[in-house]
Amino acid sequence: MDSKRPTIDMSEFSCRAEAYEASEDIGRNDSGNPTLGDVINARFGRRDVLRGMLGVAAVSALAGGAGLALTRRQALAASSSYGFTEIEHGVDETHHVAPGYDADVLVRWGDPVIKGAPAFDPMKQSAAAQARQFGYNNDFLGFVPLPAGSGSGERGLLCVNHEYTNAEVMFPGLPGEPGGDNDFAGMTRELVDIEMAAHGGTVVEIRKQDGKWAVVPDGQYNRRITAGSTEMALTGPAAGHERMKTSADQSGTKVVGTFNNCAGGITPWGTYLMAEENFHGYFSGDAAGLADAAKKERYGVPGGWYAWAKYYDRFDVAKEPNESNRHGWIVEVDVMDPASTPKKRTALGRFKHEGGETVVGPRGQVVVYMGDDERFDYVYKFVTAGSYDPNDRAANRDLLDEGTLYVARFDEDGSGRWLPLVQGEGPLTEANGFASQADVVIDALLAGDALGATKMDRPEDIQPNPQTGKVYVMLTNNTKRGADQVNAANPRPDNAFGHIIEISETADDFAAETFRWDILVKCGDPKVADIGAAWNPATSDNGWFAAPDNCAVDHQGRLWVTTDQGSGWVKSGTADGVWAMETEGELRGTGRMFFRVPVGAEMCGPCFAPGDETLFVAVQHVATDGTKNYPGFERASTFEDPATRWPDFQDGMPPRPSVVAITKQGGGVIGS
Ligand code: FEO
Ligand code: CA
Ligand code: CA
Repeated sequence: MDSKRPTIDMSEFSCRAEAYEASEDIGRNDSGNPTLGDVINARFGRRDVLRGMLGVAAVSALAGGAGLALTRRQALAASSSYGFTEIEHGVDETHHVAPGYDADVLVRWGDPVIKGAPAFDPMKQSAAAQARQFGYNNDFLGFVPLPAGSGSGERGLLCVNHEYTNAEVMFPGLPGEPGGDNDFAGMTRELVDIEMAAHGGTVVEIRKQDGKWAVVPDGQYNRRITAGSTEMALTGPAAGHERMKTSADQSGTKVVGTFNNCAGGITPWGTYLMAEENFHGYFSGDAAGLADAAKKERYGVPGGWYAWAKYYDRFDVAKEPNESNRHGWIVEVDVMDPASTPKKRTALGRFKHEGGETVVGPRGQVVVYMGDDERFDYVYKFVTAGSYDPNDRAANRDLLDEGTLYVARFDEDGSGRWLPLVQGEGPLTEANGFASQADVVIDALLAGDALGATKMDRPEDIQPNPQTGKVYVMLTNNTKRGADQVNAANPRPDNAFGHIIEISETADDFAAETFRWDILVKCGDPKVADIGAAWNPATSDNGWFAAPDNCAVDHQGRLWVTTDQGSGWVKSGTADGVWAMETEGELRGTGRMFFRVPVGAEMCGPCFAPGDETLFVAVQHVATDGTKNYPGFERASTFEDPATRWPDFQDGMPPRPSVVAITKQGGGVIGS
């Protein structure tokens, strides 16, 4: 392999883990789309007052006139929808949960999840074992009740994405400095094969008995999906297109594997959506001279982050130029049939998909909200042409193959428009390089550029709230945004702490083409004026957070946010975690800390079982990002000397990304 070395400026990052999700020199968005310049605070001073960013007394005075007492409605709204005692900011070797709750490790990297799998032995790893054991870096978590359609909150299929691997803490004896020039040193075909088997997803049956959750290791639906061996089908407008054909697949309809699956979704008909995020990082080789080199550059292909191309030609863009077109999609998995072929639904566009959360619109269309987690990239949604049939699961099987993909434009007056990515409409013509809908979806980023979509501060999870009709957009951070690049929806230059946007679709119709939007919170420490954070003043010293990433809406319609600060947590002084957010009433914009991860980990996958008596969370990349910058942890973690050996705390056992099940002692709703 003529391996292209990583193009990431590692000086900003403690390791690849964070660089993967914040690569400033990938995804070059030079489209010239509006950056609106001088509109900061044109609306927010006024709107913050109206939406509760000032104190209760001030709002009361504004709303009710001088001296008026709070109305009964206001008084009700002023009480929190959460009843737990929050935990403190901080960093240490283990996890923490609010008093009165249990946070039990449910399944760890390497645990057997397929019948006959061997027990985890870190000194005897193999690809064959890993392909039957729980994968690495658990991210998205979804819960599908068993029996199907039962709504059970005590038995179900846990669907888990395994986003990427951290070789430096997985494998013994690697000589390479993580993310450094010697990064691939020590990597062998055997280790690459283990990495590929550790990527992808797991579907595993879990049950709650006597108040405690456990994996059913021989469950009939259990399956592993991997990067190296799971056959998938390409469906939708790009399937079979010339640009999808490779030497291994002349049909352009079959592809092996999925990788960098970040967040995802569970559809109303109980399938599992895996979002392919930073797929570009797995390709290497020399793209110069390729006919589509400029398009590849817009996507950051090749990223050169892994040694995979050294052993597998399909990851070398010079040898197999079209393979990278076959990744960057939403994958749909029928979890009720473990032998089913996962389908890459190309109608939903090719970009660095963070997630794919679904909701049913008023006319039965299914709407999928999706972000592209790249600096200055876009917010999308897909609206199916057909309608969801709750009484006929088979009729919904291919709903995601036909519909309209939209990209968002956030206007400075608080309105917004979903711009259709439809070939032949507006600038999406053959003359502009879009000869078919296949070109539009394969080059969705370029289509968004042409349509004038709004450049965002790294869109992560996007979560519809079916109870309120609102949609929450996590924007994690963007330290590359200059003062001349701010816009109303991304109002802070050098945005190190991120913000959350709330979308209100027109007429509460999730399928609408227009919307209103507002900023729920601007993250960071509200006590430091220069940060420009905006929280409800009721937020405590522990209630504010930085770098919102994943989120969930529970069955009562309450919003829970998890964070991924990368090495940026050094600025906040706390490890990542779960925060409960108030979105309604006078406490709107108030955060409250519920759970905290061990040092160097990221908090992913918040997922409520039906009934809200269990919250599952995914503790990802333990002992990596930024550990060396915190007192007591002054070293880059390795297999031999990690910053923590969570969750086993046994000599010789490396840290293990794990899923944690949180329940209330004695039973009850989470957060009550
Ligand atoms: Fe994989 Fe955007 O977090
Ligand atoms: Ca994420
Ligand atoms: Ca993340």
